Amino acid sequence: MIIGVPKEIKNNENRVALTPAGAKELVKRGHSVYVQHTAGEGSGFVDAEYEAAGATILPTIEATYEIAEMIMKVKEPIEQEYKLIKENQLLFTYFHFASYEPLTKAMVESKAVCLAYETVEKPDRSLPLLVPMSEVAGRMAVQKGANYLEKPLGGRGILLGGVPGVLPAKVLILGGGIVGTQAAWMAAGLGADVTIMDVSLARMRYLADVMPANVKTMMSNEYNIREMIKHADLIVGAVLIPGAKAPHLITRDMLKDMKKGTVLVDVAVDQGGCIETCKPTTHENPTYVIDDVVHYCVANMPGAVPYTSTLALTNATLPYAIQLADKGWKKAAQDNQELALGLNVINGEIVYKAVADAFDMPYALVEKYLA
Ligand SMILES: NC(=O)c1ccc[n+]([C@@H]2O[C@H](COP(=O)([O-])OP(=O)(O)OC[C@H]3O[C@@H](n4cnc5c(N)ncnc54)[C@H](O)[C@@H]3O)[C@@H](O)[C@H]2O)c1
Repeated sequence: MIIGVPKEIKNNENRVALTPAGAKELVKRGHSVYVQHTAGEGSGFVDAEYEAAGATILPTIEATYEIAEMIMKVKEPIEQEYKLIKENQLLFTYFHFASYEPLTKAMVESKAVCLAYETVEKPDRSLPLLVPMSEVAGRMAVQKGANYLEKPLGGRGILLGGVPGVLPAKVLILGGGIVGTQAAWMAAGLGADVTIMDVSLARMRYLADVMPANVKTMMSNEYNIREMIKHADLIVGAVLIPGAKAPHLITRDMLKDMKKGTVLVDVAVDQGGCIETCKPTTHENPTYVIDDVVHYCVANMPGAVPYTSTLALTNATLPYAIQLADKGWKKAAQDNQELALGLNVINGEIVYKAVADAFDMPYALVEKYLA
C-alpha cells in the first residue's frame, strides 16, 4: 500500500503519525511510505531518519495527499486539507466527529474512508488509541502541579515530597481511571501523601492492591470531597463519564474552603471539567487564579511533550496501521472487530451511529460495507 504522512498544520500540533521506526516496519512489509518534508521535526525526527528507514520525503502536503492510498495523521483534517482528500482514500487519525459538524459534512462529501482513532475499541470496551494520551496527561498533571505549587508561580510554596522532618504535600485525585492512576504513581513516587477518590469500588479495590502505601483510596461523594479539599495542596481532576459532560465535583463555593495557593489541575477540562471554575487554557497561558486558588486547565496537555506523546501514540497505532496496510481497510475490519468499530464514514455515508445522531444525519450500518 502507498502510505502518506502529512505534516500536522493545526495550531501548536507538533506530533507526527509515524516515527522512523514505524516507517521501517511498513517498508519491511513491502509498503511505500511517503513523508512530507519536516513532518517529524516537531517531535524530534528529521527527514534523514525517515529516509534511512526507507521512506521517501515529499516537498508538499499536496504531493503527500495526492500519492497516498492511506493517510496517517494525528489531528482531524482542517479546512485547508478538505480539498486534498480523495475519493476512496483511507484516513487513519483522530477525528472527534461529533464535536464538529463541518468536518463531518466535508468527510461525507469527500467520499473517503474515515477510520477514527478515538472509536477503535477493544472487547473490554477500552479505547486503545485514547489510553496513551491519558497516560501522558496523568503523569504530566503531577509534574505541572508540583511546579505551580512553587511560590513564585502562585502556589503554596510546598515541596511535593517534603524533606526529612517536614510532612509531604497532600495530593487529592478525583477519578482513578487511566489519568488518575498515572497521576497517583507520579505523586507517590515523589513522596506525596496521595488520596484517590472514585465511585467504583471495584476500581478502588484494584488500586488499593497495586498502589504503594502512600496512596489511599476513598469513596467519591460530596461529603468526602468537602472534607478532603480543606487539606489538599494539589487536586487533580480526572473523572470521566463516557459520552457525558464531566460532573462538577468541586463547585465555586468550595474554593473558599481551600488553603491559599492550592493548585487545581483539571485534566477533564476537555469534557467540560470536573471543577466548576475550570475553563480551557493553553500552553502559552496555562493558569489563572480565583480566590487564591491556582487553576491549570490546558485542554491538550500531551501537546507540550510531543516526543513522548508521538512515541506513545504510535506504539498504539502502528499495529493497526500494519493490518490496514497489509490487508486493505475492508479485509482488516472484517478480520478485526476493533478496527471495524473505528470506521466512522465510508464513501459518503456515516457508519457510526453516535456521529449520525449528533447531527441528525443519515446513517448506514457498517456491515453493509463489510459483507
Ligand atoms: N487535558 C488533556 O490534555 C487530556 C488528555 C487525556 C485525557 N483527558 C481527559 O481526562 C479525563 C479522564 O480520562 P481517563 O482516560 O482517565 O478516563 P477513565 O474512564 O479511565 O477514568 C475515569 C474515572 O472516573 C471515575 N468516576 C466517574 N464518576 C466519578 C465521580 N463522580 N467521582 C470520582 N470518580 C468518578 C470512573 O469510575 C473512572 O475510574 C477524560 O475527560 C479525558 O478526556 C484530558
